[in-house]
Amino acid sequence: MEEIVAKKRMLSGIKPSGDLTLGSYLGAVKNWAERADQYECFYFMADLHAITVRQNPADLRRRTLEQLAQYIACGLDPEKNTLFIQSHVHQHAELGWVLDCYSMFGELSRMTQFKDKSAKNADNINAGLFTYPSLMAGDILLYQPDLVPVGEDQKQHVELTHVIARRFNGIYGDVFKIPEPFVPKVGARIMSLTNPLAKMSKSEDEDTGRVLLMDAPEIIMKQFKRAITDSDTENCVRYDKENKPGVANLMTIYSAVTGKSYDQIENEFVGCGYGKFKPVVGEAVVEHLRPIREEAARLMKDKAYLESVYRDGAQKASYVAEKTLRKVYKKVGFVAK
Ligand code: TYM
Repeated sequence: MEEIVAKKRMLSGIKPSGDLTLGSYLGAVKNWAERADQYECFYFMADLHAITVRQNPADLRRRTLEQLAQYIACGLDPEKNTLFIQSHVHQHAELGWVLDCYSMFGELSRMTQFKDKSAKNADNINAGLFTYPSLMAGDILLYQPDLVPVGEDQKQHVELTHVIARRFNGIYGDVFKIPEPFVPKVGARIMSLTNPLAKMSKSEDEDTGRVLLMDAPEIIMKQFKRAITDSDTENCVRYDKENKPGVANLMTIYSAVTGKSYDQIENEFVGCGYGKFKPVVGEAVVEHLRPIREEAARLMKDKAYLESVYRDGAQKASYVAEKTLRKVYKKVGFVAK
């Protein structure tokens, strides 16, 4: 008799607080799509998280839908992956609250992202920004996933999820599965093209050296041509993250979109200066993103289809999430409905 083995589960999300960048694509979505066949996958638009920073409501709504279209265009087939909007699955906010009560002030204060974001938003250091990691722990633990694929900057939050889950399990027994973060070997931290010491971020201004998934080819080429490299007189393409961070970042991007190793890239550009290297990287990115951009633009015109995907996704996600939430409520002592 054929043995049926349950697929392992994978979950992740992105905040629709800005348009998706090449960073969020290479650090996250690309890796999700590559594993869709091996895992049972849940991916969402983290709109509850987005409002920890003030958002224009119309932009937030537009970006949430665009993000869904982009997920699908990047290869996340809604037939194989559960794609949903976080606020449509009320269990996230509910488990988030419970986990607030099992997260310590000191732990939340130590989160690098909280420190960075509160420095950048000094006039709006709201409680949500502070308790954000407990909500993220809830997002994860509701689905009992085996793997959480994220970029480098979110690893600390997944590690705190372990701490919170272990604390809860320590009191109530094995309620939560302890998930592993999955950080890609290449592309886990794509840097700004104009400041290779800062992460490429979707929330920054246009002029900060970011590339958006939906950028037109000429804009992408412009961004790559003006990418900061270094004033090293050897002017050669060599991977040295410490001394040549701009070149290393371009090599990482080129490697991620072409599959070439750093050695292969160094050999390909022997004797070429940065002036030749930068447009080649730009062109590789343009060609890699072209089908994604075209498919996402096509999907954005089909609102009825997108609606059917997120409705269906929320229903499937709620079913799984409710099982965990019910167990949690019982364990902590809430009276059953
Ligand atoms: P967010 O929206 O900041 O980023 C989404 C994903 O993209 C990765 N990423 C990058 N990777 C490489 N280089 C970059 N420059 C870059 N910028 C972003 C991030 O590491 C992340 O994987 N809190 C999360 C969203 C979230 C979540 C979750 C993730 C909410 N709940 C549960 C996983 C599981 C966030 O703000 O990611």
